Amino acid sequence: MWAISTMNILFSNHSLTNYRKSLSKSLAFVPTMGALHQGHLSLVEEAKKSCENVIVSIFVNPLQFNNPDDLNKYPRMIQKDLELLKHAGVNAVFLPSYETIYPPNQEFNIQLSNNSIESVFEGHFRPGHFNGVIQVLHRFFSLISPHEVYFGQKDLQQCMVVKILIDEYFKEIKFNIVETKRENSGLAMSSRNMRLTNDEINVANQIYQSLLLLKNEENYSQLACELEIKRLSILGLKTEYLNYVNLPNMEITSIKNGNQAIVYAGFLGNIRLIDNLLL
Ligand code: PAJ
Repeated sequence: MWAISTMNILFSNHSLTNYRKSLSKSLAFVPTMGALHQGHLSLVEEAKKSCENVIVSIFVNPLQFNNPDDLNKYPRMIQKDLELLKHAGVNAVFLPSYETIYPPNQEFNIQLSNNSIESVFEGHFRPGHFNGVIQVLHRFFSLISPHEVYFGQKDLQQCMVVKILIDEYFKEIKFNIVETKRENSGLAMSSRNMRLTNDEINVANQIYQSLLLLKNEENYSQLACELEIKRLSILGLKTEYLNYVNLPNMEITSIKNGNQAIVYAGFLGNIRLIDNLLL
C-alpha cells in the first residue's frame, strides 16, 4: 500500500481488506476504468456528500470489451488520474492487476436471473459486454463491501443492469445514479472524446442536439428518430441505435408515460459514442 498524503493506493486484496477493516464509518465506492474527467469526478463529489469515505477503483476490465482494438486504444493515464482523485479528496484508490480481480484458479460466471435487458441495445451491439460488467462489479462489490455505490446516467443501460445485480446479490448496498456531465456544447463527457479531432467534436456535438430535438417532439415516433439518424449520417455519424425506451426494461416505445429515455449509440470513424436523455 502507498499513501499520497492522505490518499491510500491499494494494489492487492490484502491491502484492500486491511484498509476496509480500518474504517469505522460509511464507505462509498465509485468504479471506473480511468482516463478520468469531470464526469467521473462528479460521481466522487456526490459520493462525498453522503459517505465519510470514498474509494475509487481504476481497472480497465478486458471482459467487457468485445472489440480488441477498443481495449488496446483505451486511454491509460494513471499518474494524472491519481492527482485528480487526490485533489477531489478521495480516501483510497484500488488499482488491482488482472490476476487480483480474476485469480486463475477461480471461475467467474455470475448470472442475473432477470437478464432480458442484457441482450438489447448495448448488449446487442456489444455481445458479452454486460456479462463482463457483471463479473467485475460482483467481484468489486464482494471485495470492497461498500455501503453505497455511484454510477453515471451517461451509461444508462449499465445503471439498469447494476440495479438488478444489486437487487439480486447485494441488497445491503445503496445504489445511486448521477446525472451526465456535459461539455458546454452539450457533448457528454467521455474518456473516448480525447481520441476525437476538433472537427469530429463539432460533429459529435450534434448527438445532444438530436436528443434535445427528440425530447421536445409531440409524439415519440420512430419516424422522428429515423430523420435524426439520417441527419447525423450526413454529418458522418454511423448510428447503431436511436430510440425512445421505457425504463427500467429498455423496451422501445412510442407512447409517453413518464419513466422513459431516448438512447443513442453510434460511431464517428472508429470511435464509439453513447448518450441518452431522460424524458
Ligand atoms: P467508465 O467508463 O470509466 O465510467 C465510470 C463511471 O463514470 C460510470 O458509472 C459512468 O457512467 C460514469 N461516467 C462516465 N462519463 C460520465 C459523465 N459524462 N457524467 C457522469 N458520469 C459519467 O463504466 C465503466 O467505466 C465500467 O463499465 C465500470 C462500471 C467501471 C466497470 O468496469
